Amino acid sequence: MKNILITGGAGYIGSHTAVQLVEAGYNPIVIDDLSNSDERVLDRLKEILGKSLTFYKGDCGDRSLLDQIASEHVIDGVIHFAAFKAVGESTFQPLKYYRNNLGSLLTILDFMRDKQIKDLVFSSSCTVYGQPEILPVTEETPRQDAESPYGNTKKICEDIMMDFVKSQAGIRVISLRYFNPVGAHPSGKIGELPIGTPANLVPFVTQTAAGIREKLTVFGDDYDTEDGSCVRDFIHVMDLADAHVKALAYLGEQRDNFYDVFNVGTGNGNTVLEVITTFEKVNGVKVNYEIGGRRAGDIVKIWADTTKINSVLNWHPSYSLEDSLRDSWNWQKSL
Ligand code: UD1
Repeated sequence: MKNILITGGAGYIGSHTAVQLVEAGYNPIVIDDLSNSDERVLDRLKEILGKSLTFYKGDCGDRSLLDQIASEHVIDGVIHFAAFKAVGESTFQPLKYYRNNLGSLLTILDFMRDKQIKDLVFSSSCTVYGQPEILPVTEETPRQDAESPYGNTKKICEDIMMDFVKSQAGIRVISLRYFNPVGAHPSGKIGELPIGTPANLVPFVTQTAAGIREKLTVFGDDYDTEDGSCVRDFIHVMDLADAHVKALAYLGEQRDNFYDVFNVGTGNGNTVLEVITTFEKVNGVKVNYEIGGRRAGDIVKIWADTTKINSVLNWHPSYSLEDSLRDSWNWQKSL
């Protein structure tokens, strides 16, 4: 059984991927410093899987900890989720973001080369496309200047991995460019756990519906879109997790010094207002919202062309927006 080190494996996307890795016959080994996650996620994973996962509490940028893990397990591949991801915070504390997001990747790449671990799946983001001129975006769509230091770290990380692969380091890398992850495990046992006030749309919607937040503000309804609110491609976290499993299997068949990128989205765009009304409809609850001003730096509309991931990885999403919003609500209610 292959051991896959998952950095940030107690986090939102990492925890769902851990479940699917086990179901696909891998042994995930989780490293997480719990800076944006909760140790109880490990108990929930145990409930879902019927067994405990190997867990190391600590920073994936800590080389001595990585060495310790490698001395205790033969690592066959790495999925690197762990990163800071608050767009707004990154504009106030850019160095924190550069130090953490770039530093941990550098340490992991060094570690992989030294230990001859070949396969890496990296969490990138559609943020690398900036404000795209042509929609939907394909992997060939030019990347643009990032709108935030956070976004820039994703772009620079992609460049670092590309250069590292070109240097004949012997590793194989897939960068997955996530669109907007939503939803939760259908069991309601794991999901997104924002610490403090959520910055992302769907956690804000569920917390407002639950009465934790008084009201949701829709950031602008005067954009050039169907109903004036921004458009995103909302992808169920279970489908996103599955893309990692498929990427890992595909890497195993590739030559050394391989690098490629894939969009992971549904291929459909939905507006912010559609998300709210769909949420209300499928869950039979009201969301108290008001229209507010535009959020600085927001992308007006973006959704994925998924032709490449559909054909090359044979990955297809199986959850709808309705499923996503039902599962998000189910998760919120379980909290
Ligand atoms: C942002 C980043 C993305 C990053 C992700 C991680 C940009 C352009 N994108 O995604 O790279 O990976 O965060 O967290 O910075 N909205 C409201 N009211 C709210 C919250 C959100 O109307 O209270 C709207 C936003 O204006 C936006 C949409 O909902 O139009 C989605 O916002 P959000 O969930 O923050 O995701 P992105 O901005 O797409």
